[in-house]
Amino acid sequence: MDHQSVLSAYRRYAGVYDVLFGPLFEPGRRRLIAAMDCRPGETVLEAGVGTGLSLPHYPAHVGVVGIDLSPHMLERAHQRAQRMDLKNIDLRCMDVQQLDFPDDHFDKVACMYIASVVPDPEAMLAELKRVCRAGGDVFVLNHFSGSQGAVRRIEQSLSPLARRLGFRPLFPLDDFVALTDMELVAANPVNAFGYWTLVHLRNTAKNGKQTASGHALAETATPIADGHDRSEETAPAER
Ligand SMILES: C[S@@+](CC[C@H](N)C(=O)[O-])C[C@H]1O[C@@H](n2cnc3c(N)ncnc32)[C@H](O)[C@@H]1O
Repeated sequence: MDHQSVLSAYRRYAGVYDVLFGPLFEPGRRRLIAAMDCRPGETVLEAGVGTGLSLPHYPAHVGVVGIDLSPHMLERAHQRAQRMDLKNIDLRCMDVQQLDFPDDHFDKVACMYIASVVPDPEAMLAELKRVCRAGGDVFVLNHFSGSQGAVRRIEQSLSPLARRLGFRPLFPLDDFVALTDMELVAANPVNAFGYWTLVHLRNTAKNGKQTASGHALAETATPIADGHDRSEETAPAER
């Protein structure tokens, strides 16, 4: 993936995105925003806001800044915000790998279905951490590739098409989490067949990188056999 392939893929997708990926990805969007547990007056960054399908789900009492690299996707988000009279939304064209915000600017950060799209996910995580206040939360919703079986084989065969598809089919969760030193609070399967994962990271000052599969999970997490943790399903208000 590179800048240009992202821009051309999402110029093509913009007009049909809501039909193709609206309902399919919707449970995850709602689930992420519920897990954010936004308090009045908080400020939230949503990176890769796309056509703004998530925007109506934020409570009116939080200020949401949505950024996206694609002006074509963002134009749809503008139209949605206007049409729905969403007054708490500020939309800007920006690269998540190089955010134009000061350090510690947001209470919470969200990104939905963009981690396998950005050319450099490590740079993305570094920027999300930088702009999130210390102790704040970063939520990443994405498909991470399986480790075996038919799905893995399909993902492998799609891999050479990444630039045209506009996303990276091969993207293991362990590799992703190892790109940051933020604390892994939880990783829960969401959407149809649990094929996508909601990853909750916390911006605590911690040394060393972590893996998703066990020992470095935060105290609140309850690891289970498949390497995922479902603590948010049983205890949504974890703080
Ligand atoms: C699969 S769409 C997800 C859109 C939306 N979050 C949703 O829930 O449907 C991926 C989005 O990430 C955006 N994107 C890709 N690379 C980006 C980057 N480097 N900076 C900001 N946005 C980016 C794309 O333009 C696209 O709108």
